[in-house]
Amino acid sequence: MPDRIARYKGGEYPVRIGKGLLDRIGETAAGLVAGRTAFVATDETVGALYLDRATVSLERAGFRTASFSVPAGEASKSPERLLELYGSFHAAGLTRSDLVVALGGGVVGDLAGYAAATWMRGVPVMQVPTTLLAQVDSSIGGKTGIDLPFGKNLVGAFHQPAAVVLDPSVLGTLPRARMAEGMAEVVKYGCIADEDLFVAIESGFLDLDWVVERCVRIKTGVVSRDEKDTGERMMLNFGHTVGHAVEKASAFALSHGESVSIGMAAATRIGERLGVTPHGTAERLESVLVHQGLPIRSTLPLDTVVEAMASDKKRLSGKVHFVFLERIGEAALHPMPVSELAALLKEVAVVG
Ligand code: GLY
Repeated sequence: MPDRIARYKGGEYPVRIGKGLLDRIGETAAGLVAGRTAFVATDETVGALYLDRATVSLERAGFRTASFSVPAGEASKSPERLLELYGSFHAAGLTRSDLVVALGGGVVGDLAGYAAATWMRGVPVMQVPTTLLAQVDSSIGGKTGIDLPFGKNLVGAFHQPAAVVLDPSVLGTLPRARMAEGMAEVVKYGCIADEDLFVAIESGFLDLDWVVERCVRIKTGVVSRDEKDTGERMMLNFGHTVGHAVEKASAFALSHGESVSIGMAAATRIGERLGVTPHGTAERLESVLVHQGLPIRSTLPLDTVVEAMASDKKRLSGKVHFVFLERIGEAALHPMPVSELAALLKEVAVVG
């Protein structure tokens, strides 16, 4: 499959898709940097499965390798883990001409990406995503960051990868719940940008290679047109305003994908109520989400969710750019006060 190219103000990078590419990441890495050290950041689950293969490929390409594994899970996107990672970079003698390889899901991609963005004011990073969610979304577009006790992704940087290498065959080891999590983002792409993709999922068709390629095409297009998230890229937040709040209010007991699923149901119900989204869309979307094993309601207290929504970094001004569906395959941004959104969320009874 030909590389997809993502562009940004300072350059461009390839998004390479193909079965077996994990065993050839060294070849891609060798063309990216002059240095000879490749530092692989991963988590304990992914490391046990794939670190050896990644290391062998990098060493075969002439790199000296070092690695660091964090515990799997959102809790690793923390200042403490970041400091540990810097410590390992120091021990490995990592310089700006070397390479960080982020091998894992969204947590590893964000944490290692941010560590690379800030170590010595910026080291190149190659993203090697191993979950569906990271392959179709978080590894592309340069968003990196960590969570703080008061909010998700509150500290971060745009640090565009030098390359993204995506091997769909690693998805075979993903547990069902993690696949479902990624499917929430896949359904999101169908909703906001690709009716054919939505209809394919709706009809039960699931050729993963086709799905991944389709989503990557959408994501590279969006981030190339809006690198810094000031316009079109905000559409990718469909379901995320309520989703992030639910995720935080659940103290991360709900996964990102589960939370976004609830958030998409809420956004569509609210859209229907306001007359922006055609009636029947929510029912159609919810049926697809349930079929994927995803939740569409939460019993979390409404007040806690609203409080989390108001404190999210994106709405310190009290306003939110809410993403509505104008139909399946087309989305639009509507700025609205958080207070109005909270009242609508209560009316649609998706939370509480
Ligand atoms: N995951 C949303 C974005 O990359 O903008």
